[in-house]
Amino acid sequence: MLSFEYRCPTEIIFGKAAEDKTAEKIKAYGGSRVFIVYGGGSVVKSGLLARIQNQLTEAGLAYEACGGVQPNPLLSFAREAVKQAIAFKADFILAVGGGSVIDTSKAVAHGVATPDTDIWEYWSGKKPITKSTPIGVVLTIAAAGSETSNSAVLTNKEIGKKCGAHTELNRPCFAIMNPELTYTLPKYQIACGVADIIMHTLERYITNVEGNSFTDRIAEELMKNVMKYGIVAMADRKNYEAMSEIMWCGSISHNGLTGLGRPMDFAAHKLGHELSAKFNTTHGASLTIMWPAWAKHVYEDNPARFALLADKVFGVNSGTAEEKARAAIRLMTEYFKEKLSLPVCFGEAEFGLQDDATLEYLADMCTSGDTKKVATFRPLDKAECLAIYKLANH
Ligand code: NZQ
Ligand code: ZN
Repeated sequence: MLSFEYRCPTEIIFGKAAEDKTAEKIKAYGGSRVFIVYGGGSVVKSGLLARIQNQLTEAGLAYEACGGVQPNPLLSFAREAVKQAIAFKADFILAVGGGSVIDTSKAVAHGVATPDTDIWEYWSGKKPITKSTPIGVVLTIAAAGSETSNSAVLTNKEIGKKCGAHTELNRPCFAIMNPELTYTLPKYQIACGVADIIMHTLERYITNVEGNSFTDRIAEELMKNVMKYGIVAMADRKNYEAMSEIMWCGSISHNGLTGLGRPMDFAAHKLGHELSAKFNTTHGASLTIMWPAWAKHVYEDNPARFALLADKVFGVNSGTAEEKARAAIRLMTEYFKEKLSLPVCFGEAEFGLQDDATLEYLADMCTSGDTKKVATFRPLDKAECLAIYKLANH
């Protein structure tokens, strides 16, 4: 087990009607002028936004609402939102939505705290984030785990790049999590969320660092639980038990706990972000497309690790390590395809098969022109990324 430091300070308010505590929590964290960020309209349609606005008014909190965040959120939108929040003199940012809204809110929070810095400086890694504004979250989809994570992901359309900024200042003060708020989700979004939650744990689980059995057991139980309730949720999106289990696992899967004592790999995330940047692919689907090809490309480096997945998560306990490893890859891929109805290769994706020049472009973007290696299980250069994209291109 490697040494680690772990702090996950986000206060969680979980359960039915949890959102009734929004104003109380904002006040507790010192907010008085609240800049509300939301997405393309689901929270308007459901009435959630209006309920929160009424609550803030009754609590004597000033607010301004900023809607229109799109999935795979854009830097350009966040920049405009920063200007609006500064003009409003916001001292608290409230995200009402999913990962895209929360990540935009994190960008706004950093931008408001440092008005002289263009926020892309943070995402491009030119400057560290040193100051922010408090953020609260009312979560409407279990998926990205941004409600407790230290990451925020933006897409810079001008240069075709989607990437994350990582800092402890990205952790929200509080996350309000009422599973009933997810009952209006389309099936496709439930599926993408379940896939993302599995992948946040799986991309920490496949590692060459041995000797951390407690972290392994947490990870295995989380993946089994999400896979089980994912099937229930796909059949019945108003199943409180299923939506609660998925929502809670969503936060735990990406708050750091399931990977303590080992480095994160996140190869499928990095490879998938390039698909989202180029084709606007939904994040969860980008992962189910890239993971099978990545796994086939690298499993021989450490078949025992994939065999452990086969054994503990899929109950495959006979065969050699190689056979079990291949079974784990096959069973995970089948779960994505058959239980979640998600694409597992380019040919099944909306964007379809790609020519060699596009695959080369994706590999180039992923490795910043072959100047950076991706991931930790096997650090991947451009040639390896290209080989994986080729493997997924069927
Ligand atoms: O925009 P609205 O109208 O709200 O609709 C959204 C959107 O179309 C809809 N939706 C959300 N809650 C709903 C709902 N529709 C009906 N009823 C509800 N209750 O779902 C769609 C997807 O929303 P989005 O916020 O994009 O989903 P998700 O939470 O999956 O977030 C994805 C983004 O988070 C990033 C991804 O890359 C992607 O950009 N990630 C962020 C991470 C982080 N900050 O830690 C980690 C992840 O690995 C991920 O990269
Ligand atoms: Zn993810």
